[in-house]
Amino acid sequence: MSTERIRKIINNKDFTKENLSYLISLEGDERDYFLKQVGNTYTESLGKKVYFRGLVEFSNFCTKDCYYCGIRKSNTHSERYDIDNKAIVDAAIFAHENKYGSLVLQSGERSDKAFTVRITSLLKKIKEATNGELGITISLGEQSEETYRDWFEAGAHRYLLRIESSNQDLYYKIHPKDEKHNFETRIKCLKTLQKIGYQTGTGVMIGLPFQSYNDLADDLLFFKNTNIDMVGMGPFIEHTETPLYEHKDALWSLQRRFDVSLNMIATLRILMPDINMAAATALQAIDPMGREKALRYGANVIMPNITPTANRKDYTLYENKPCTDEGADDCANCLSIRVEMAGREIGYNEWGDSKHFFKRQEKK
Ligand code: 5AD
Ligand code: FES
Repeated sequence: MSTERIRKIINNKDFTKENLSYLISLEGDERDYFLKQVGNTYTESLGKKVYFRGLVEFSNFCTKDCYYCGIRKSNTHSERYDIDNKAIVDAAIFAHENKYGSLVLQSGERSDKAFTVRITSLLKKIKEATNGELGITISLGEQSEETYRDWFEAGAHRYLLRIESSNQDLYYKIHPKDEKHNFETRIKCLKTLQKIGYQTGTGVMIGLPFQSYNDLADDLLFFKNTNIDMVGMGPFIEHTETPLYEHKDALWSLQRRFDVSLNMIATLRILMPDINMAAATALQAIDPMGREKALRYGANVIMPNITPTANRKDYTLYENKPCTDEGADDCANCLSIRVEMAGREIGYNEWGDSKHFFKRQEKK
């Protein structure tokens, strides 16, 4: 085994595209060595804390038609639901009472007035019901600057909008090429979110058809160059009711997609030591210990699902999604044990904001 190159890259912080691509593609003993190196050192500067974000996937109605996603508009087999505000506020109160510190609201993408106005009032209600103590992250897709502003003023302070792939050609292979799925609009949205003052998160899927290690290296450089505060990324998992399913035979094995996802997390952690990084749920769809492994090698955020259980099974972006039968209580217990098993501490009652965000503000 030769560890010389790995050691050099880490020590000299020599993060060229070629070197990043090399780290992302590691296998076998060399990969084990690399993951251990990152795992043993990154908490020294970032700390051992893991932050919880109670995740409410409150509706799967979606106006978009992404080729990978199980809740895409054209999937007529998807059972649609929309949880009412009262039940969402109750879930927020649950998160608050269980000292989660923060909430994530996610849904399919809609930008009609009824929806955007509803979210503004929902955000205010959640803030009120939790004494302004619960941090709120939202993940509601592409919106106008005005809407982003309204939501920010109503109390949301972090926003997640995955770029899905930073390679424009690949982007158009996994999305329809039309106005509703425009790569440049998505980039612009990220910039607008940063301008407004959100802690801004993005991310990609790993192991997409047509995707190479070089693409993934470019994704990491994209996060760095866009000065992003938070990242959530995980393996692509094919869904039978979506157009990308026809490429299933060309995909890496699920295990390889999982392994490369951990390589991506570890590599990004050394490239951007102070950002927040989530242990994506999709990792656990492949490996029962997937999220714990992500925590070991670079992630510091975990998003326990607190969507009312009756609806969980219908938010199937991909199949075999874990924890769709458990209630929120079970998830909380199970997760706290898992985090402690990974040798980490839970940041109870803390917002767990991105350190990178504050450094970015100071530099302004
Ligand atoms: N496999 C893995 N992740 C998926 N997502 C959507 N569909 C899939 C899939 N089939 C991810 C996208 C989206 C996030 C909410 O879920 O990256 O941004
Ligand atoms: Fe949900 Fe374990 S995280 S049951």
